[in-house]
Amino acid sequence: MNPTILDVDTGIDDALAIAYAVRSPALEVLGITTCFGNVSAEEASCNTLTVLDYLESDIPVYQGAGEPLFRKYLGEKAVAIHGEDGLGNRADRILKRGIEKQHAVDFMIEQIKRRPGEVTLVCVGTMTNLALALMKAPEIAGLMKRAVIMGGAVTVPGNVTPWAEANIHNDPEAAEWLFRSSAPVTMVGLDVTMQTLLPEEELDRWRRKNTPLASFMADISEFYIQCYKRNYPGIRGCGLHDPLAVGAVIDPTFVTTVPMHVQVDLEGSLSLARTIGDRREQPDRRPNADVCLTVDADRFLAHFLENTV
Ligand code: RIB
Ligand code: CA
Repeated sequence: MNPTILDVDTGIDDALAIAYAVRSPALEVLGITTCFGNVSAEEASCNTLTVLDYLESDIPVYQGAGEPLFRKYLGEKAVAIHGEDGLGNRADRILKRGIEKQHAVDFMIEQIKRRPGEVTLVCVGTMTNLALALMKAPEIAGLMKRAVIMGGAVTVPGNVTPWAEANIHNDPEAAEWLFRSSAPVTMVGLDVTMQTLLPEEELDRWRRKNTPLASFMADISEFYIQCYKRNYPGIRGCGLHDPLAVGAVIDPTFVTTVPMHVQVDLEGSLSLARTIGDRREQPDRRPNADVCLTVDADRFLAHFLENTV
């Protein structure tokens, strides 16, 4: 079993990733930590609890950072992509329980120290919680098994600017803090996640299952696919960004990685939050991340569809 902490900004693909992780026999989800990003940290917590209710799971939820490390959070929720409430306007449940009292950052530190070398962090929102944990307890860089992040784009365009991907753009300094920390990082960026699309026709199959979870996932994914069709004319589905980060832990052979020095542009007026990977033959700095450059999209998608709802 892979003891794992999911760090989310629950939005729609986060919800799919939570279901994929919680239902996987390969992962022991120790807890889910939340942060701002697609929505506020509070909304991310409520949405995460909503998804866990549908999954009939009592996995604990720990709320984390509500704003970036240094920049002002403008509260720009990703309404057009994830809906006003972050779940395609389907966050309509009365929650069965609340969040834990412990702060997300303290939970991360405690669990990593309790099981040295064993805990994998899967960060699919901003890297703010993990950066704060590394600031508070730098030693965890050498104690965690790995940090698998959904974020960045090295060989393809960004999705919030021509260069920047949303999770990095929401808190560039947090991502750079992680890359400089010597923690073992796997970067699951748009280079691979835009190749793993949830096909629209799959939703009918989910609906035919006729379970609350399958109907909920179909409804929120429908909202997400409609957004992708508006933003990427001709696209045949929506990007399974966060689920692929989980998939890379469930079965690392879904992706191939290249060790690379990655740096986040913290000053660029045009390329702020770009993840710059040094792909020269003779780079002048040691690699600080394993960057995913290829994915076995068909095999991953088949596994995700078979094991999520
Ligand atoms: O760029 C995609 C990422 O930004 C995903 O994690 C999505 O949920 C948003 O947080
Ligand atoms: Ca996310």
